[in-house]
Amino acid sequence: MEKVAVIGAGAMGRQIALQCALKGLDASIYDVSNEVLDTARLFSAQYLDSRVDKNRITEEQRQDTVARLKFADSLEGCVDGASVVIEAIIEKFAPKASLFESLGKLCAPPTILASNSSNIVGSRLAAVTDSPERVINLHFFNPVLVMDLVEVVLHPGVTEEVERAALDFCNSIGRTSVVVRKEVPGFIVNRIFRALTREAMNLLEGGYASAEDIDLAVTRGLGHPMGPLYLMDVAGVDVSYLARLDEYTETGNEAAKPNDILEKLYHEGRWGKKVGKGFYDYPETGDSGVQR
Ligand SMILES: NC(=O)c1ccc[n+]([C@@H]2O[C@H](COP(=O)([O-])OP(=O)(O)OC[C@H]3O[C@@H](n4cnc5c(N)ncnc54)[C@H](O)[C@@H]3O)[C@@H](O)[C@H]2O)c1
Repeated sequence: MEKVAVIGAGAMGRQIALQCALKGLDASIYDVSNEVLDTARLFSAQYLDSRVDKNRITEEQRQDTVARLKFADSLEGCVDGASVVIEAIIEKFAPKASLFESLGKLCAPPTILASNSSNIVGSRLAAVTDSPERVINLHFFNPVLVMDLVEVVLHPGVTEEVERAALDFCNSIGRTSVVVRKEVPGFIVNRIFRALTREAMNLLEGGYASAEDIDLAVTRGLGHPMGPLYLMDVAGVDVSYLARLDEYTETGNEAAKPNDILEKLYHEGRWGKKVGKGFYDYPETGDSGVQR
């Protein structure tokens, strides 16, 4: 049976690993933080219990999924025997590059080495391995257990076999894939999302409207399921800030520069729903459930 290894058990990694296990693949997940790994274990158990309670999966499926999902205590143990490795660690180039250097040594071809980065293109990570033809982006969307799409991003060094294997992998875990044939920071969805959120923040910074009204205008006027500012809180203000900063630093493109308000929220630790505050406040009792 195919094995998938996921590195980083944060918001994304824990869901990617669980989705793979739910779809019948052996999945192993590792994080440098034992605390995060414990939280990921609890998250998986609670999610599976709730799926059984809602009759979405059977008790037998729950048990099979639990048996397939392993929480590894070392990087080596996590990637051992994997045919696909997905990196989902912090959105900073240096730690990602260092990890890919290790992965290149630990995992022999044809194991695919994929990054879930929102912004950092595969060729930058491929450069630190000695087999760049198998380094790609597999970009999932939050929440992974709900969102159907994966962007498969290729660079010129990627072989057709790797492309085919990546598309087969996405299909095998029940996800729709689109191929981005020419690398570009932000790929398809986030480029469009950034244009939208940049303008939403421009309006907020200019005092033209409140966060609530900007979000309401987009949900009611454009038919989006969530407003752009609320969606940034859901996705993580820190993730948005670091991705923009990386693109700006890489390209010098002024349009990619993080808005002042985004920089301020990042440095104030207002990283969105996961910490209870971002563009909005989320009282300790949790999110009100209001879809802004
Ligand atoms: N949050 C989103 O909406 C979203 C969506 C798509 C893609 N992404 C991308 O996914 C990646 C992860 O994002 P996230 O929101 O899950 O972040 P997160 O902060 O929730 O989780 C990152 C985890 O990586 C761990 N980590 C850091 N360095 C590590 C290392 N060397 N080895 C093992 N674990 C390490 C941290 O302990 C942390 O638990 C980022 O590249 C981000 O751009 C995020």
